[in-house]
Amino acid sequence: MNHPTNLKKNARINVVLNQQTQSTGTEDWLQSEAERQTHDSFIRFEEQLKQYVGLEEVKRLVKEMYAWLYMNERRELQGLKTSKQVLHMIFKGNPGTGKTTVARVIARFFHDMHVLSKGHFIEAERADLVGEYIGHTAQKTRDLMKRASGGVLFIDEAYSLARGGEKDFGKEAIDTLVKGMEDHLHDFILILAGYSKEMDHFLSLNPGLPSRFPITIDFPNYSTQELMDMITHMAKEREYQLHREAELYIREHIKQFRHDHESTFSNGRYMRNLIEKAIRQQAVRLMRYQSYDRQSLITLTADDFKFPDSHDTL
Ligand SMILES: Nc1ncnc2c1ncn2[C@@H]1O[C@H](COP(=O)(O)OP(=O)(O)OP(=O)(O)O)[C@@H](O)[C@H]1O
Ligand SMILES: [Mg+2]
Repeated sequence: MNHPTNLKKNARINVVLNQQTQSTGTEDWLQSEAERQTHDSFIRFEEQLKQYVGLEEVKRLVKEMYAWLYMNERRELQGLKTSKQVLHMIFKGNPGTGKTTVARVIARFFHDMHVLSKGHFIEAERADLVGEYIGHTAQKTRDLMKRASGGVLFIDEAYSLARGGEKDFGKEAIDTLVKGMEDHLHDFILILAGYSKEMDHFLSLNPGLPSRFPITIDFPNYSTQELMDMITHMAKEREYQLHREAELYIREHIKQFRHDHESTFSNGRYMRNLIEKAIRQQAVRLMRYQSYDRQSLITLTADDFKFPDSHDTL
């Protein structure tokens, strides 16, 4: 598939995750064997997406994109018009809600669909765009866009570009980005990411920006059950198992911890740090008791998740 399809100019897709649960599987639309063979690459991609908990709307968006791209191919067969689609995106959400992870997945998806020629992923932040003297910023930003050509340029904490106001070089970076986005030589997708409140403020300060990003994805905090699913999956991936008591302990712990640290709770990252710390504690426990049998090696107990020091460092 070589031709991205057309999306009405400036049409904005606002995706709110968790808003409603829709079936995102292929079961409702790719039923026959022939269909499954035609859409084999998409089906394989969807399988990979299943490893992520929640993110229903991201999964739905990917499916929608695929359908558009495929229709474009069919339209071309009928001699109908096809044209490029604006695919720049804004990701808004709290720490650890999966923004970077999804941006990587999207880079791979658009590469597999031949929308992006290279599909590589470049993660940048303010310091990678903003220079130290007049003219330096524009050059740095242009160089970065050049490197991102054919792939995804992901700018984390994008709101920090507006930090210093009018006189700050961050503004020059924004202007250069906007110009670069309109330059058709750059075959790339730009994703600006950051925490919801800061991003809303940033976009309100730059009225020219929102319409240049037709896709906005909100990443809400995960529910306790979703965080439990995540840690269970993380354990399985690493060939560990959570003991039933460990599950009960973690569930209560998450509820309490996020209640106490609501504004800084780091969702998926917290779960990853939690399991990694528990794995280290389990190792110390097994050394102490010299139990090296298979069952001991794979089992994480409730005690492994009880840390003597504060959890604030997780
Ligand atoms: N839906 C999910 N399913 C499984 N794991 C997830 C999910 N969301 C996040 N994670 C895990 O949580 C960790 C943090 O995710 P990620 O770095 O993508 O978050 P982020 O939104 O970019 O955070 P930050 O804003 O702090 O940069 C990763 O290890 C990732 O694998
Ligand atoms: Mg990130």
